[in-house]
Amino acid sequence: MAEKAISDRINELREILKENSRRYYVENAPTMSDFEFDHLMRELEDLEKAHPELDVPDSPTHRVGSDLEDVREAKGFVQRPHRYPMLSLGNTYSIDEVEEFSMRADKGLNTDFTYCCELKFDGTAICLTYRKGVLVQALTRGDGEKGDDVTENVRHISNIPQRLHGNYPEEFEIRGEILMPYEAFDRLNLKRLEDEEAPFANPRNAASGSLKLLDPAEVGERGLWCSLYHIPAQSLSFDTHEHALDAAASWGLPVSEHRKICRSIAEIKEYIDYWDKQRRFLPYATDGIVIKINELALQRTLGYTAKSPRWAVAYKFQAERACTELLSIDYQVGRTGAVTPVANLDPVQLSGTVVKRATLNNEDQMSILDVRVGDFVYVEKGGEIIPKITGIDLSRRKSSSVKPAFPEFCPDCGTRLVKAEGEAKWFCPNQDGCAMQIKGRMIHFIGRKAMDINAGEATIEQLFDTGLAKSPADLYDISKYELLSLEGWQEKSAQNFIDSLEESKKVPFDRTLFALGIRNVGESTARLVARHFGSLDALASAGLSELQEVETVGDIIAGSIYSFLRDEKHIKEISRLREKGLCFEFHESENRISDALEGKTIVISGNFSISRDEMKELIRSHGGKNSGSVSGKTSFLIAGEKPGPEKLKKCEQLGVPVLSEEAFLTLLPESGIIIKTEQEPTLF
Ligand code: IVH
Repeated sequence: MAEKAISDRINELREILKENSRRYYVENAPTMSDFEFDHLMRELEDLEKAHPELDVPDSPTHRVGSDLEDVREAKGFVQRPHRYPMLSLGNTYSIDEVEEFSMRADKGLNTDFTYCCELKFDGTAICLTYRKGVLVQALTRGDGEKGDDVTENVRHISNIPQRLHGNYPEEFEIRGEILMPYEAFDRLNLKRLEDEEAPFANPRNAASGSLKLLDPAEVGERGLWCSLYHIPAQSLSFDTHEHALDAAASWGLPVSEHRKICRSIAEIKEYIDYWDKQRRFLPYATDGIVIKINELALQRTLGYTAKSPRWAVAYKFQAERACTELLSIDYQVGRTGAVTPVANLDPVQLSGTVVKRATLNNEDQMSILDVRVGDFVYVEKGGEIIPKITGIDLSRRKSSSVKPAFPEFCPDCGTRLVKAEGEAKWFCPNQDGCAMQIKGRMIHFIGRKAMDINAGEATIEQLFDTGLAKSPADLYDISKYELLSLEGWQEKSAQNFIDSLEESKKVPFDRTLFALGIRNVGESTARLVARHFGSLDALASAGLSELQEVETVGDIIAGSIYSFLRDEKHIKEISRLREKGLCFEFHESENRISDALEGKTIVISGNFSISRDEMKELIRSHGGKNSGSVSGKTSFLIAGEKPGPEKLKKCEQLGVPVLSEEAFLTLLPESGIIIKTEQEPTLF
């Protein structure tokens, strides 16, 4: 390559890597897979090595990625310096390079040593400080030199102890990873999809996004988990890394039990092969094995480069991926009018499930991938619910293939699509005439987390198509007689439907607000907004800056609420819904059954005879406060079937009482409390 071409390529690689680093660490929405990223990084490293005159100190090859929020978004987080820099790890996808690492260590040390092999957790790095056995600080990696102070949020992660026991040092730091287990990740993404919020690309992004939430209690609800793996132990007197971790575990810290002391490269290989297969049975994401020199004195001998320790290396597993044919692309119109391209795939087996569809997100994503119908595409799924297309096998591209044109018109109603400045998605602006959007909004309205009306999507389609209901308010005008004249309705189903419409009038204001389907207003935002303003009238008269006083409401959400409530059509629809008797006021005390739990902060864990949401509602309706994690402020924990062992352990540590569901119910006034369940009402 000519000198100019080399320097151009170097600049290009630096730009791509920096941009993707920012998207990965700050926006939690990377556009390329780790595998691609690592390969581009390796290409840049090789070019810089071959042309040292073109190397510069701020090249991404010399810096760890930064998760620091930019100043605009940094509301709420103070940045603090790390006592010891938080570095990254050298990584490789090849066993040969692990062998090279081992040979270098052999040569550099010239003595016997062992390796400690551990799982490489795929989350977001955290550094905890304990003083006199009490958690005093939690910092993110940040730029390696300073990190965001997320201490309050970390206090809501259930397996991180606030207080240690045993023979802990006066003060020390311990580092590890914050993870979001697959189960919590799927739950969160399903909810985000329901709320038409962009789902997180993978559990790692979800973990780091959740760690930076502004409401610590919401962090508690996200079900994050921590696994610790490194004590920068300069000041502590352990002989090996393994003993340091054992000690940390004995103080009550969550240290992974999966590690092995290896004495040879053959043993390391065996360990890697074992976990490459077994990792799919773990409840959280791992992306490799970290191999560390176990003896701490020898670690010190080897030392560090500017970016990573010389005493450790990460072997990364290839992500599980499959190659299959892209058969067609559908363009789906959501209730907000957003048009999402969805790839229909030749069904393929991937991580134990058959994948038939994958989202292509938006037009930009389609052109970055340069995806075409008939292509053989790589599909990846790291345990996430939504598989994604990460690449294309160009060698199998048919010469006849053409770039798909993103539709200019709505596939449902034919209206010309529009794209607002700065938005990645195209929208159908025909909100009142596009059947897909209207039906989508009605389906959202009746949803379980909204008005909870006893009907499914097919019913809404039928009522809409037959002209009986063209908007949510119309549902309340339908008579039993009209339903019985339609196909498939019988006395009982019609009565159930009418009853559940009647019942929906009792749904509290926050859920009614959520049901309206205001763009960008998900379930939790609706709850916060409803609590803050107390009534729709107060909300409707709030200005943009007043709206932004609500936690998590920024200018985008405030703008959505503001314009929604000033739109003539919405004003009319809301006034009709109000006439039908729906609840547009929030009085916390109004739907209180008793004050039996007044002042109590209660944590629930496990499964109960009623759903968890109903359990929370029960607590609230008796004046109690539900919290996601056990802390010194917890009054008691209610343990259902299979409670979380970490929560129980924490209760024991902090002396928090644990009550069974039955014992809890005895605290409530005895007569006449009817809790609604999925099946029959239960009388306590
Ligand atoms: S040791 C001085 N051990 O992977 C570096 N890191 O890609 C000490 N990671 O920066 C880190 N699992 O955030 C270590 N068992 C493990 C790990 C681990 C995940 C993360 C960590 C690191 C990154 C490098």
